[in-house]
Amino acid sequence: MQNGKTKMTLGVNIDHIAVLREARKINDPDPLMALAICAQAGADQITIHLREDRRHIHDEDARRIIASSPLPVNLECAIDPLIIEIVCALHPHRATLVPEKREEVTTEGGLDVSGHYESILNTINTLKAHEIEVSLFIDPTRSAVELASKLGAQWVELHTGSYANLYAMRHSCLPHSHHAIESLCLSRAQLDERLESAYGDVVEAANYARSLGLKVAAGHGLNYQNVTKIVNITTIEELNIGQSIIARSIFTGLAHAVQDMKNLCQR
Ligand code: PXP
Repeated sequence: MQNGKTKMTLGVNIDHIAVLREARKINDPDPLMALAICAQAGADQITIHLREDRRHIHDEDARRIIASSPLPVNLECAIDPLIIEIVCALHPHRATLVPEKREEVTTEGGLDVSGHYESILNTINTLKAHEIEVSLFIDPTRSAVELASKLGAQWVELHTGSYANLYAMRHSCLPHSHHAIESLCLSRAQLDERLESAYGDVVEAANYARSLGLKVAAGHGLNYQNVTKIVNITTIEELNIGQSIIARSIFTGLAHAVQDMKNLCQR
């Protein structure tokens, strides 16, 4: 608490540094180099995603990052027994369970909590037995929040992708996403309505999760333009942000990009 306000913490997702490295399949840039810079620039956490297809972060990256990070490491992973075994051995501070599809560009949608109830329960119990904090990446709905609480997760991370996409459609004239085509067919008033509704879903899910005693994080698609409305939701205490920070770092350097985002996270 600061001035009666809850603190917002910033997790920097550094997967995209490994994406750049994988473009050449060499060892440069090394995601490990980001740790000290992020910490000095005010980040509170490092987030990485060990995907089943290892398209960016590799096991050896995760091992080195967890072993040497000055900040807690939040490791995103699928509910796959082989991956969970590796995660238990790596022993990050937190594991965030996410849905994964090989053909997707990035994590699309939250976990299907009711459809995978038993396997998520087993996974949560395994992680907790290894003293790893568990978060579930879910869509901002009351039912998903309720199930996360019933399953015994300590955290939920609310998927802000719908809010972020609609924000981009409403406020950007650049055709920077495939959603731009759809936005051409919608009036400003319709976009405003959809954006407010998507934002309202995040607010309601965050408040509900908090009321059930869950810790609440949010992430996906957050950037320097759309983050302020999310920071204003006081029941959210952590944001995990990757793409926009790493994209800005190309022009400003990583330290500035993290500092700029950290400044926007103050409340
Ligand atoms: N949180 C989760 C669970 C994610 O899967 C991702 C994307 O890897 C992020 C946050 C960060 O999203 P972005 O890169 O769009 O900021």
